[in-house]
Amino acid sequence: MGRFDDLAKAWDSKPERVEGAMVFVDKIKEYLKSDIKNFKVLDYGCGSGLVSFGFAGDVESVEGLDYSFGMIEVYNEKAKDIGMENIFGYIHDINTQDLNENKYDIAVTNMTMHHINDVNNFVNKLAKSLKTGGQIFIADLYKEDGAFHSDNADVIHFGFEEEIVYQAFVNAGLKDINIEKLHSIEKPTNTYDIFIAIGTK
Ligand SMILES: C[S@@+](CC[C@H](N)C(=O)[O-])C[C@H]1O[C@@H](n2cnc3c(N)ncnc32)[C@H](O)[C@@H]1O
Repeated sequence: MGRFDDLAKAWDSKPERVEGAMVFVDKIKEYLKSDIKNFKVLDYGCGSGLVSFGFAGDVESVEGLDYSFGMIEVYNEKAKDIGMENIFGYIHDINTQDLNENKYDIAVTNMTMHHINDVNNFVNKLAKSLKTGGQIFIADLYKEDGAFHSDNADVIHFGFEEEIVYQAFVNAGLKDINIEKLHSIEKPTNTYDIFIAIGTK
């Protein structure tokens, strides 16, 4: 929490964060074949809302959940500043709290899963939060060398093997699972590949 509270106000100042979120949003929209204007969207680990605000103009509502007070404060200030009433952020910790079930049309989560202890529990809770036929979209790091973050406090996983993510989706009862490379982030230390994982309830 502390780490992200401190980072919240300047979160949007890194272009690679903004670009990564936009690539994710664009890819999800490409995948969604149906009309999304009545969609209820969950953005888990929403941070300052880089992904949420990419959907807000196109859907019925977006709920952003995050355990960082600083991030949720920034998120809700941004929504207020642009006068958007269909987007709201709430404090929530997936390690200790449940989600509402059968509520959302899509659950999206960008660069958050590597901070969560129990990946199976995370995917299972997100899957349960979906309506039947709803879809989950996760973007995160492929297995990395441990140098992606300059500070590894709160980093639980140095990325993921596809098999681990695939198995979590199977365990959560998701169908039509697909995992593929979404984009790469260049850093002085290395090039880091990001995957998108998709499944349907
Ligand atoms: C790398 S940031 C990504 C933020 C945002 N999704 C984006 O694309 O800019 C990870 C976010 O996950 C949140 N987070 C980490 N662990 C969490 C937990 N157990 N419950 C809820 N949120 C968590 C952090 O507070 C942080 O905002």
